Amino acid sequence: MPTLPLPYDPAALATAHGTPLWIYDAAVIEQRISEVASFDTVRYAQKANSSLAVLALMRQHGVKVDAVTAGELHRAQQVGYTLGSDDVVFTADVLDDDALEWIARHRIPVNVGSPDMIAQLAAAGIDVPITLRINPGFGHGHSQKVNTGGESSKHGIWHDQIPACLASAKTHGLTVRGLHMHIGSGADFKHLSEVAGAMVTAAQTFAQHADTLRVVSAGGGLPIPYHADQPQRIDLDRYFKVWDDARQTIAGITGHDVELEVEPGRYLVAESGSLLTRVRSVKQSGSKHYVIIDAGFNDLVRPSFYGAHHHITVHGPDGQDLGAGSTCDTQDAIVAGPLCESCDVFTQEEDGTVVTRALPRATAGDLLVLHDAGAYGMAMSSNYNSRRIAAEVMLKDGQAHLIRERQSFESLTQFERVPAALHADTVKA
Ligand SMILES: Cc1ncc(COP(=O)(O)O)c(C=O)c1O
Repeated sequence: MPTLPLPYDPAALATAHGTPLWIYDAAVIEQRISEVASFDTVRYAQKANSSLAVLALMRQHGVKVDAVTAGELHRAQQVGYTLGSDDVVFTADVLDDDALEWIARHRIPVNVGSPDMIAQLAAAGIDVPITLRINPGFGHGHSQKVNTGGESSKHGIWHDQIPACLASAKTHGLTVRGLHMHIGSGADFKHLSEVAGAMVTAAQTFAQHADTLRVVSAGGGLPIPYHADQPQRIDLDRYFKVWDDARQTIAGITGHDVELEVEPGRYLVAESGSLLTRVRSVKQSGSKHYVIIDAGFNDLVRPSFYGAHHHITVHGPDGQDLGAGSTCDTQDAIVAGPLCESCDVFTQEEDGTVVTRALPRATAGDLLVLHDAGAYGMAMSSNYNSRRIAAEVMLKDGQAHLIRERQSFESLTQFERVPAALHADTVKA
């Protein structure tokens, strides 16, 4: 894939903020938001990237938000979303104590992912509008780790339980105002039309039992081209048309307008983000050449978790792209991180097989950029090996704003306690 020039100077940002460093280009997020504007509601699945500055940008552009935990509700509130309005919907398969407390306190609409949740809301005295997340009985996805439908998926309410859920909601005095499916057909339009067809069938069943259906949500799952050899971007006009046709059919069934929502995470943020890292070591092990960087799967877990592919560029210490130009000196390399885990490798397949990538020849001190890392990157990072959560920068209006400081060592242990009995330096005989 011809690499576009980075929208930033990697050397300058590495010097200013250190590495590893997350960098997001706000202009890319703004562009993606504008591309899905045909839907009545764009609801950002903040699990993809819940950094406050990203949420604030979404809010500025009229994007609503979903939250899957009380923590995500807290984040939405922090950037000014109004809890208790349609701006923020809670979507989950279970309700934990924190979630129940927040939903009760702020009267947050809930997208219910299991029948038990209806009775549990009622038992907690919570009277909020609900939607039903339906598992249509089939899924999609290259691996079970990302499949969100069918019998082997834990998500959603099985499609034949819609009448029972409507009856339960009625008994408990809750209004069901919508149906939701998140199956993630991506750019597979044949599959997508099956999902939309399943939504129409679900709406027919709904309409036989209640007249409160006002909104259908297509969920998320819009893909982005991570791979060089991937077909072009998803045809969003076609994607919208499949769902709009379904919406119109459903409006015909219900006899009134029905709103159409979409709930993307990855599509809005993935391509805006990159992870800037420093090459710390290059070494040869038998026939294999390793490039070891200062980011690990505690920073970006997608390659270790699902064998996800991220485009990689290598830059000299001055920031120059070593792959630019026609006379680039390449080498087949395995790119790995610093963690004490064999799977801490950025070039691997879904089954964990380590593979090489033809990259410009790197030396210690160079910079290495993992591209398209704005979704499920920082949001999935951890403190494994007691590594600090990396800093984040957002490029906006020609400036690089620090939006998250690198975590301090103090905060790594902030909430831990050592019992008094362990304070003595030695064990008594
Ligand atoms: C209910 C729901 N909606 C939306 C999304 C966002 O998916 P994506 O980032 O693929 O668009 C997810 C992702 O897991 C989800 O579970």
